[in-house]
Amino acid sequence: MDIELQKKMIEKAQAARSHAYAPYSGYSVGAAVLAASGEIYGGCNVENASYGLTICAERNAIFSAVAAGERKLSAIAIIGPEDGELPYPCGACRQVMTEFAEDPGMPVIVARSEDSFEVYRLEELLPHSFQL
Ligand code: THU
Repeated sequence: MDIELQKKMIEKAQAARSHAYAPYSGYSVGAAVLAASGEIYGGCNVENASYGLTICAERNAIFSAVAAGERKLSAIAIIGPEDGELPYPCGACRQVMTEFAEDPGMPVIVARSEDSFEVYRLEELLPHSFQL
C-alpha cells in the first residue's frame, strides 16, 4: 500500500484515539481498519472500573467494521503516545486480526505519529495463528 494511504490511516487512528476512555491506565490508543470495500473504521480503547472488561482500540475498530457488514480487512493502523514505545498490538488483537484479514500478509501499521511508524505483515506478528 502506498505511503499516502498509510498516512491517511494513521490520521484516522489518531482521530479515533482522541475518543479513548483510559482513566485507569492513562494510556490512550487509536486504531483504524481499512475494509475491502474501501471504507475506514476507527476504534479506541475503552476501559472499565472492572479492569478486565476493557477493550483494546484494535478490536473496537475491527468489530465496528464487522458490525457495519464488512468481512474482509485490508490493513490496520494503530497509534499510541507520540513519545512512547511503538504500540505493538496485544496477542488477543493479533488473533482477532487473523480472523478477518483478507491476506495473511495484511499490513499492520504501528505508529507514534504520521512521521514515526513501522509496517509489519500480520503473519510475522502472529505466526502459526489458530485456525479452524
Ligand atoms: N491497549 C490497546 O488498546 N491495544 C493493545 O494492543 C494493547 C493495550 C489498551 C488497553 C488498556 O486500555 C491500555 O491500552 C493499557 O493496557
